[in-house]
Amino acid sequence: MPRRHLTFRQLETFATVARLGNFTRAAEALHLTQPAVSIQIRQIAEVVGLPLFEQVGREIRLTAAGQELLQTARELDDSWNRFESAVDALKGLKKGRLRVALVTTAKYFLPRMLGAFCRRYPDIEIELEVANRARIVERLRANEDDLYIMSFPPEELDVVATPFLDNPLVVVAPADYPLPDGPLDLADLAPHPFLMRETGSGTRKAIDRHLAKSGHSLNIKLALGSNEAIRDLVATGMGLAILSRHVLGEHPEQDGLRILDVRGFPLQQPWSVVHLRQKILPLPARAFMDELKAAVGKNGRF
Ligand code: PGA
Repeated sequence: MPRRHLTFRQLETFATVARLGNFTRAAEALHLTQPAVSIQIRQIAEVVGLPLFEQVGREIRLTAAGQELLQTARELDDSWNRFESAVDALKGLKKGRLRVALVTTAKYFLPRMLGAFCRRYPDIEIELEVANRARIVERLRANEDDLYIMSFPPEELDVVATPFLDNPLVVVAPADYPLPDGPLDLADLAPHPFLMRETGSGTRKAIDRHLAKSGHSLNIKLALGSNEAIRDLVATGMGLAILSRHVLGEHPEQDGLRILDVRGFPLQQPWSVVHLRQKILPLPARAFMDELKAAVGKNGRF
């Protein structure tokens, strides 16, 4: 295979098409025209000697050769990042790239921490990806980023997980909802309508686990992929919800909400910063982990 004909640029184009599953969106993301993207993919396929994508209905999917190439492209990217970090270390600089993927609920506190990091290391380029837990676990499995922020590190993957902050899940009701002050039992809440995060969300996983363990069930009226939408619908009186305390403002009552005193709540599971065990973390990622630990006090708050 005449690999000298392949360039990093072509591999980046290929990896972008693979990630977005679409030539047009990849062209937009790379600021190229769609024909330019198609030509690059064709050139790589000619070098490889096999097609990299196949058309399935309206979607394109990676062929087996495409999957092998994607894995190789990621390994090359990792190696190059390590090389850049090593060179930066030799130069005594904290330069390079930091790729962090976080679950949706972490976006209420992590950007603040990243802000402080950016000010300290203005030359580090940051790539941030926000998605629900299921999607973040997929990215972790595919080694797409350096660090992952979530509260249930996946047990099926060989990862290093460092807990760094509390993530209390509370039961929240409209401020004027006719329920006594408590303490209440989950059984008291069973007849009331609940708005829930979607299956695949870490918040939902924590709730489902708690319900299964305690033998309770809730009356789920609606499942939604947005913490903000749930919080705002609760404030309009549509029902109750279980949300991370991070989603609510400092004074929930000012937003028309009330945190209920329910036995067994808040559910506690800490936020962790996670990476694949075999990953050699680039210098910026190591610096960010140190920054996270420093930003969070000993009591798990910051
Ligand atoms: P979620 O994840 O934003 O997908 O609910 C939160 C978590 O991992 O606790």
